[in-house]
Amino acid sequence: MLNDIQRLMAEVQAAALSTREEVDQYHRTYTAKKGAIQALFDQFKQVAPEQRREIGKALNELKTLAEARLQEASHALEQAREVPAPTDLSRPGLPHWQGSRHPLSLVTERVVNIFQRVGFSVDEGPEVETDWYNFTALNFEANHPARDMQDTFFVRRDANDYTQDLLLRTHTSNVQIRAMERMKDMKQPIRLVMPGRVYRNEAISARAHCFFHQIEGLVIDKGVSYADLKLMLQYFVDNLFGGNIPVRLRPSYFPFTEISAEVDVQCRVCGGDGCQLCKHTGWVEILGCGMVDPNVLANCGIDPEGYSGYAFGMGVERIAQLLYRVPDLRLYSQNDYRFLAQFQGWH
Ligand code: DAH
Repeated sequence: MLNDIQRLMAEVQAAALSTREEVDQYHRTYTAKKGAIQALFDQFKQVAPEQRREIGKALNELKTLAEARLQEASHALEQAREVPAPTDLSRPGLPHWQGSRHPLSLVTERVVNIFQRVGFSVDEGPEVETDWYNFTALNFEANHPARDMQDTFFVRRDANDYTQDLLLRTHTSNVQIRAMERMKDMKQPIRLVMPGRVYRNEAISARAHCFFHQIEGLVIDKGVSYADLKLMLQYFVDNLFGGNIPVRLRPSYFPFTEISAEVDVQCRVCGGDGCQLCKHTGWVEILGCGMVDPNVLANCGIDPEGYSGYAFGMGVERIAQLLYRVPDLRLYSQNDYRFLAQFQGWH
């Protein structure tokens, strides 16, 4: 029997125990209730009294060793399954991308906010629009070049009757008309900002895109003057860029305003010294504006004798370019992580 014990001892010591299968097999062969070691203990009952001490000692040693190896191997397998604990618990965690607000959303919200603070409400209108709201009600003549297919994306074009056309709006001025029609009873003054996306049939480049964003403004009341418009514009520019920013109004033309002007601010990049952005003029155009043409008021059912007002429209991309120095218009719609990530945490 001592021989059997020694043979098993050698086997137990040599057994390979690196996989779950090997450990299970080992247990079945040696340490289980029906295994070889228990079988020896059963035999031990018949051992003569004078041999019991020596054989008993060897048998106990075998059992202890066999169980120790089993435990050690099972433990090692458990450990291998677990994720290793970090070695330095005080190390900062891995950075976690939480998304960011789009620069155009940031600018839109900032502009809208500036006007909300002085009593403007927000309005919106459709992007697929009829000829009336995008052109005719805004005093565009029948053969105005902006109606051309080179500028406008048509959804449906009637060869004989342009008043039936359906198009992608080319500006947010359509929302002016919808608002004035809705509020023509003038129970209260109209004071609105109207952000939205607009479309033009342009070849896509760093400086032009087939869609972009505008924010329209409209104020209609009794006795609104050009001086009111100028004051509001100076308030807006000062709040947008911070500080006392030089502003100039240049005479211009829009079908829906009379008189009309374009507004330049002193270049925010070079401070007026001249740079690439301002084409070395020191000034950058940020919006178009004017006094709402009496024809437009009449088209919407508002009496031009009793009421007057001003309107303005600005490009969101242009303002974002001044605030954030974005060099290429295409960046706004490419969803490039490297561009968007730069605005993380901005509000
Ligand atoms: N709709 C004009 C454009 O897209 C911008 C504009 C100019 C809007 C003058 C106005 C305005 O409300 O009064 O170029």
